[in-house]
Amino acid sequence: MWEKWFGKKNKNNDDAQAPKAITDFSFLGADMHSHFVPGIDDGAKTIEDSLLLLRGMVDMGFKTIITTPHTMIDFYPNTTETIQNGFELLKQVAAENNITLSLKAASEYYIDESFDALIDKQPLLTIYKNEVLVEFSMLYEPPNLKNVLFKLLTNGYKPIIAHPERYLSFHKDIDKYTELKDRGCLLQLNLLSITGYYGKNVGAVAEKLLANKMYDYCGSDAHHEKHIDHLKNIGNTKVYDLLRSYPFLNNRLCF
Ligand SMILES: [Fe+2]
Repeated sequence: MWEKWFGKKNKNNDDAQAPKAITDFSFLGADMHSHFVPGIDDGAKTIEDSLLLLRGMVDMGFKTIITTPHTMIDFYPNTTETIQNGFELLKQVAAENNITLSLKAASEYYIDESFDALIDKQPLLTIYKNEVLVEFSMLYEPPNLKNVLFKLLTNGYKPIIAHPERYLSFHKDIDKYTELKDRGCLLQLNLLSITGYYGKNVGAVAEKLLANKMYDYCGSDAHHEKHIDHLKNIGNTKVYDLLRSYPFLNNRLCF
C-alpha cells in the first residue's frame, strides 16, 4: 500500500532532469493552518520570509490563507492582540507587494494547563464560525485533554484537532481517533504527513485516517521555505490524486 500511494510518478522514466511542475492546490481554495505572521512563533522570522511563503502559496493556486500562529504559553505566549498586530502588518505588506490572497488570522492553540483558563478569559480566534484549531503534545496525551475538549464544546466552540496523525500516543490505538470524532471534534490532515515527510509511521496513520474518511480539513502547516518546496512537489507523487479526490471542507473557508 505504501508503495502504491507514495512511490514517485514516472518511476521508470528517465526524465529525472525534466523540470517538475508546481503542485496545483486550487482544488482546495483555502489553506487553514500555517505560520506566516513574522517573528511571533517558529514560522516566518521576518516580513521578507512571510512574503516568500505567501508567494509560494500563490504559486500553488491557493486563494485564501487563514494563518495560525502558535499560542503556547511556554514558547510562544501570543495573545489575540500580538496575533492581530502582527497580522495587520502582514496584510499591509502583502497588499503593497501585490499579493492578491484573501488573508485572515486565527491561532493554533496548544492544549496545556494554561489553555483551560484562556477559554474563559477571551474569545478565541476561530478558523470558521465557532471552529478553533488546537494541538497538543506529540509525545503524550495531556491528562486534561478530554476536559478541555468538553469545555470548548460547552462554551460553544468546535475543536479542530491539528495533525492528529502526528500524535505518537494515539498510534497504537486507532479507536482514539473515532473517540475524538464522536466527541464532536473535527480532524485536520497536514498535507506533508501523507508524503512521509514526518516519517513512515505518521504517513501510514494519515493514510488510514484518509481511507476511513476521518478528516474534515487539510492544511499546509507551512513554517518555512523547505515546507513550501515539499508542498510544491506533492503533485509529482501518486498521493496527489488521493488528496484531490477527498471531500475536504477547505473550500467553504474561501472569502
Ligand atoms: Fe502548526
